[in-house]
Amino acid sequence: MSKVLIAGGTGYIGTATVKAALDSGLTPVVLTRSEEKAEVLRKKNIEVVIGDLLEKGEWQEVAKSVEYAVFLASPPTWGKKVTRKIALAFQKGHEEMTKKFLDAFISSPIKKIIYIAGTSYYGDTGNGTPKKEEDTNEPKGWGPYIAPSVKLLSNYISKGLPIVTAFPGQVYGPDSWMQQLFLNPIYQGKPVTGLKGYNPMFSPIHIDDCGRAIIHLLTNGMDGERYILVDDLPIPSHDFRNLIGDVMQKTVRTREVPRWLCNILLGPVLTEYATAHTNFSNEKLKAAGFVFEYPTYREGIPQVVNEWIEKQKKY
Ligand SMILES: NC(=O)c1ccc[n+]([C@@H]2O[C@H](COP(=O)([O-])OP(=O)(O)OC[C@H]3O[C@@H](n4cnc5c(N)ncnc54)[C@H](OP(=O)(O)O)[C@@H]3O)[C@@H](O)[C@H]2O)c1
Repeated sequence: MSKVLIAGGTGYIGTATVKAALDSGLTPVVLTRSEEKAEVLRKKNIEVVIGDLLEKGEWQEVAKSVEYAVFLASPPTWGKKVTRKIALAFQKGHEEMTKKFLDAFISSPIKKIIYIAGTSYYGDTGNGTPKKEEDTNEPKGWGPYIAPSVKLLSNYISKGLPIVTAFPGQVYGPDSWMQQLFLNPIYQGKPVTGLKGYNPMFSPIHIDDCGRAIIHLLTNGMDGERYILVDDLPIPSHDFRNLIGDVMQKTVRTREVPRWLCNILLGPVLTEYATAHTNFSNEKLKAAGFVFEYPTYREGIPQVVNEWIEKQKKY
């Protein structure tokens, strides 16, 4: 069976990608820095290599032996205030990881590398016609801090590495930002924090579809091309939030903070991210043959909310 090295395979999107790899008959090999996370994976009979992308290690040998690879490694991007200094440290770490990871595949028989960036690279799309891969970009939020990594890719592509770059939109599921920002507060009857005067567009994608789309691109993505990973229906973020309340049968209470206060509480990077429209088309992903299990948030949110509630009842 073909092997796929997944850097970031213990993370939020990575966990879904490992599952999708197994479901499609590939053998995932997960790179992690953590012995504890490695043990959890080994118990599930998942292959692991312990290592740090920023350091030399056994993972570089593994990279030479696999057919496919996925890059999902990243310093944390959410959960607390992000100052420009933190964002610049993120940028440095991200760029360094990108270089070390891609260097490991030079002169190797690798068939495809899926590199995960994010739609903030394209900046504020506005809420008109959904944007496409070839549209011009002015990175916003995290975008300026991942742009140097994305720029590096063209050097590697010109050296012959078969890289496909994927840009997921809002990847929603029962963990990560959706749990922190919406599921927990709405379930507990606490207010959801929003930005006064803003109702930016979301281009969501269900976490399972995101993992499946990444694996799909391993065999269906064109070398050197970009693919935006979003579902069929960009929607105003308030609609996304309100459907969670409807499925939970809870009233969504809100606390609206002005932009200047958000800047103080979360910092400029997350404020810019939270106010920018994310409005994208998935035409190219679908033209590559990808079929969604959850074509819109209308199917996906009830599944996520019900799974999450079941989990709450167990604890
Ligand atoms: N979440 C979203 O909604 C979303 C949307 C669009 C784009 N993205 C992008 O998708 C990527 C993955 O996001 P995520 O939310 O899944 O991230 P995450 O849950 O924070 O996971 C980050 C992963 O990076 C690994 N990692 C960090 N530093 C490493 C290092 N030095 N060496 C090796 N591995 C390292 C971690 O592995 P260990 O701790 O096990 O070593 C972990 O598996 C990020 O680039 C993110 O910006 C995310």
